[in-house]
Amino acid sequence: MSARSSSGSLTRRGFVTRAGATGLTAAASPIGLLARDAKAAPPDGTPEQIHLTYGDDPSSSMFVSWACAAQAVNPRVIVHGATAGQTVFHAVQRTYTDGLNGQTVFTYHAKLDGLEPGAALRYSVTADNDRNRALPFTAAFQTAPRGRAPFRWTSYGDLATPVTSWVLSSPQSRYAVQAVERFQPLFHLLNGDLCYANLNPAAQPAVWADFGNNVQVSAAHRPWMPCPGNHEIEFGNGVQGFNSYLTRFSLPSNGTAFPGLWYRFRIGSALFISLSADDVIYQDSGAFVAGPEPLRPVASTGNAPIEPGTSLYVHGYSKGAQTRWLEQTLSAASKDDGIDWIIVQMHQDALSSSENGNGSDKGLREAWLPLFDRFGVDLVLCGHDHDYERSWPVRGCNRHVGRDATTGVPVDTCQPRPVITAEPPDGYFDTTSGTIHLILGGGGTSAPLDAYGVDPASGMPQAKVITKPNRPIPGAAAGTFTKPGADALEAAIWSARRDTDTGYGIAVFDLDPGAAHGKTSITIRYYHAAGADRLPTAEYQLFETLVLAKQRRDARPRTTK
Ligand SMILES: [Fe+2]
Ligand SMILES: [Fe+2]
Repeated sequence: MSARSSSGSLTRRGFVTRAGATGLTAAASPIGLLARDAKAAPPDGTPEQIHLTYGDDPSSSMFVSWACAAQAVNPRVIVHGATAGQTVFHAVQRTYTDGLNGQTVFTYHAKLDGLEPGAALRYSVTADNDRNRALPFTAAFQTAPRGRAPFRWTSYGDLATPVTSWVLSSPQSRYAVQAVERFQPLFHLLNGDLCYANLNPAAQPAVWADFGNNVQVSAAHRPWMPCPGNHEIEFGNGVQGFNSYLTRFSLPSNGTAFPGLWYRFRIGSALFISLSADDVIYQDSGAFVAGPEPLRPVASTGNAPIEPGTSLYVHGYSKGAQTRWLEQTLSAASKDDGIDWIIVQMHQDALSSSENGNGSDKGLREAWLPLFDRFGVDLVLCGHDHDYERSWPVRGCNRHVGRDATTGVPVDTCQPRPVITAEPPDGYFDTTSGTIHLILGGGGTSAPLDAYGVDPASGMPQAKVITKPNRPIPGAAAGTFTKPGADALEAAIWSARRDTDTGYGIAVFDLDPGAAHGKTSITIRYYHAAGADRLPTAEYQLFETLVLAKQRRDARPRTTK
């Protein structure tokens, strides 16, 4: 294709460099320079999969990102002024060629900066070879407020796509996107396992495209802030397999050698920290060839067949860089009197008692929960197990109280210790004394996991715990491989609420900054899609409400806006 030939070409327009593992080239050259055959139809640069993400400062910057079927010519975003005038922001191109099917994916990223806080802005996305150039895609978004202000966000993970021919996709995925729009949040947190492209190895880019076009219904109007999950790990797409994810999303910088995999952003009195849990978990759940046949990339990739029993296990990939960054970030936040709340987003679960899902991972308990304790993280939002589970606030852990799932011998699972085990008398959870974990894995997959462990002896909640790597082992059939499940069990004394009706839902968070010397609160409402385990539904009903409340950390007089 002519489009490929221009990779690395310079442009007459602004060229923004960006470090990273993914392919970055300049914005496309003029179409006349690309076309080898003047009679050929021009490549289609019509924007699709349009989505927003925050830059480093959500009150003044926003990325607009999208993809095209072919290379876009002069890709750009036009921001329409409130009165008159337009501002044009040129986009940079980032590409990758899928390591399994050889498809080259063209993505575009325009960084809109210098924006006013709390402003509503209309924008258009186009290119010289946009089929809709006369009437380009246009939407509006709102920048985050600056300073203490109320705002709403929503969250879930494990979304998949509505195209049911893809593994793990379900019509519920479309309803889940509509649910975000129903609640009109300032932004949405998407907690990993975005579309399960790695379970459809011959067509990974097509799965991503269906995902991108599904979420555009919401993500073109408000930022969707993702974290990577195990199903973002793809064979042939980078050392850790995250190249597709990283090519498609522009995210706040983290100043490390791993841009885009973890980041933070602040809105008002809340600091949001997004993590890449595959770096510290024990579980092996990335791309995997079960056999008996090898996975054969198409010849154009030049990649060798991937033998049965191969898994892309990335535990420890940052060599501690992520945990050091996390500690520095939390330490700085703990000294900032303008930050009342610290919310962590990550995919895998430190506290999950799903019976038919993955369970809890001790790697998280060892690497990050002590930091959450030390610096007072209020909330941890996850996915991975496709259900809803809420923990009591937890601090510290009980040692040597688990047991091996097979032999029954004692195992140290680092069982998280709840600071309360009943609803607080005044109805308000004080997260200064413990961190609440929420599993919000009910985006829209075809595989709900809302059966939960119960100790047959006591009738009390019981959790599976992964305390060591579950690398592939030979399967029952010749030439096949499988991965063992969790190796340990523990009493889930930290489990406060489990939704046994459905695996699907959306959490809605309303932050009230409160007044100086007073309390600030976050009201959490979890809406679930009752009956969706059996039949996809657009109906989301309130399942439970809880309110977190604590003293504000500032002592300044209240400022009014
Ligand atoms: Fe998942
Ligand atoms: Fe997952």
